[in-house]
Amino acid sequence: MMEPHIIQLPKLLDPRGNLSFIEENHHIPFKIERTYWIYDVPGGETRGGHAYKTLQEMVVALSGSFDVVLHDGREERRFHLNRSYYGLYVPSMYWRSMENFSTNSVALVLANEVYDEKQYIRDFEAFKLAKQ
Ligand code: TYD
Repeated sequence: MMEPHIIQLPKLLDPRGNLSFIEENHHIPFKIERTYWIYDVPGGETRGGHAYKTLQEMVVALSGSFDVVLHDGREERRFHLNRSYYGLYVPSMYWRSMENFSTNSVALVLANEVYDEKQYIRDFEAFKLAKQ
C-alpha cells in the first residue's frame, strides 16, 4: 500500500491569474468517485477524527491553510497544506484529523468511493486494534 505523500499538481503561472488542475489516474492515483469540500470552519475547530477501511483521498488546500494529521496506529505525521497546487494523498487505514484552519480556508477532498458510513472507523482504539 502507498504511504501518505504530497503530490505536486500542475501549476500554470499566468499574469491573469494562476491555474492548476487534477486528472484522475494521472495526477491522482485513483479514479475519482466523489468530491467534497470543507469551508467556514470556525477558529480552533477540528474535523475528521476517523479512518476509512478501503477509501482513499486526496486533500487540497484550495484556499488558506490547515494541517492534516495522519496516524498509522504507531506514530503521527502532520502535513501543513497552504498551497493550492499541492495535494496530500491519504491512503485507507490512516486515522485522519484536520485542524488549524485559517480564516476563509477551503479544503477540497477527492475520494475514490461514494459516501458510505460503513467505510468509517470512528473509534481510535478500534482503529489501532485493526492495524495490528
Ligand atoms: P464526516 O466525514 O464525519 O466529516 P469530517 O471527517 O470532516 O469531520 O462527515 C460529516 C457528516 O457529513 C456525516 O454525517 C456524513 C456526511 N457526509 C455526507 O453525507 N457525504 C460526504 O461525502 C461526506 C464527506 C460526509
